Amino acid sequence: MSLILGIETSCDETAAAVVEDGRRVLSNVVSSQVAVHSPYGGVVPELASRHHIENICPVIEAALAEAGVGFGECEAVAVTQGPGLVGSLVVGVQAAKGIALAHGLPLVPVHHVAGHVEAAFLAHGDLPLPALALVVSGGHTSLYEIPEEGVHRLLGRTRDDAAGEAYDKVAKLLGLGYPGGPVIDRLADGADDRAVSFTMARIKDGRADFSFSGIKTAVLLHVRREGIEPVEDPDDVPRPVRDLVASFQKTVVATLVRGLTRAAETHHPASLILTGGVAANTRLRRDTARAADELGLPLFVPPLDLTTDNAAMIAAAGFVGLRRGHRADLDLNAEPNLRLEAS
Ligand code: KG4
Ligand code: ZN
Repeated sequence: MSLILGIETSCDETAAAVVEDGRRVLSNVVSSQVAVHSPYGGVVPELASRHHIENICPVIEAALAEAGVGFGECEAVAVTQGPGLVGSLVVGVQAAKGIALAHGLPLVPVHHVAGHVEAAFLAHGDLPLPALALVVSGGHTSLYEIPEEGVHRLLGRTRDDAAGEAYDKVAKLLGLGYPGGPVIDRLADGADDRAVSFTMARIKDGRADFSFSGIKTAVLLHVRREGIEPVEDPDDVPRPVRDLVASFQKTVVATLVRGLTRAAETHHPASLILTGGVAANTRLRRDTARAADELGLPLFVPPLDLTTDNAAMIAAAGFVGLRRGHRADLDLNAEPNLRLEAS
């Protein structure tokens, strides 16, 4: 039996978890800073960093206590090395280094997106491989081919905003609060998604890339043209705003599903994975499931607590990384722009 302690601080969640054999979650503690950042309509890096410093030790202690284990019973400590906000990442990396040094544990660096992909294996066990993974969050929108668990081949990525970032920026523009995804998801339900017509971004060079900055600007232009004012009462959102966000969501989801479908037709995977915070989206889940059906492929979507930022996915990816020989020395640095290469 192998227990891995995972630590995640890449953005605005301070998280720690203990996972057994890369498959069984013994604890998964997440301290969210949503309340800290929501007045600003987005994550304020300086505040995030300060809150991570305050929360990191209690969160790690809670994860160990909930799992009923001590540091000494863990085989290794895995930590998100990047990508993310440098001032946030560094808090988790320093904590992990301190634990590795004090308890003589191997230190395993994990790429945040590898963690999001691993969440599917953690939740669903061995998946038919190769898998095609669509990772959609506030910081990432990427497509990977997964020939083996722990190996990632980048097929496409966003050239500008991530899909979640577009949700958050549109919500901020309309005065809907932060994070924007869940609010827009809720408001779009029952609204007219044909009210405003947006076009799906076209990537001309044939790569499986995405782009979401155009639709964000199109929403802004529509708001200006129609004289739409920011919402004052979140419980009483006017019809034109609900129709606008439904139309925006329809186009974003269609763009994602089109990207996934095209990549599946080109690369012939044995299964599909949908993961990252935006995978919580009702319409994205529904339309991806429909596309998977049409492709005749099984679709794996982790449950909500494993699909948004958490440390169980980092511990699970650390377990796989350790088996593949990934270890870091105590001079490990946070890498805000870390790339996920085939490994
Ligand atoms: O994976 P995550 O927790 O953090 C990052 O790695 O970014 O994803 C957070 C993102 C935010 O942009 C949030 O607005 C979006 O996920 N999100 C959603 C929904 N729930 C969260 N987007 C659309 N619909 C949702 N239901
Ligand atoms: Zn994430």
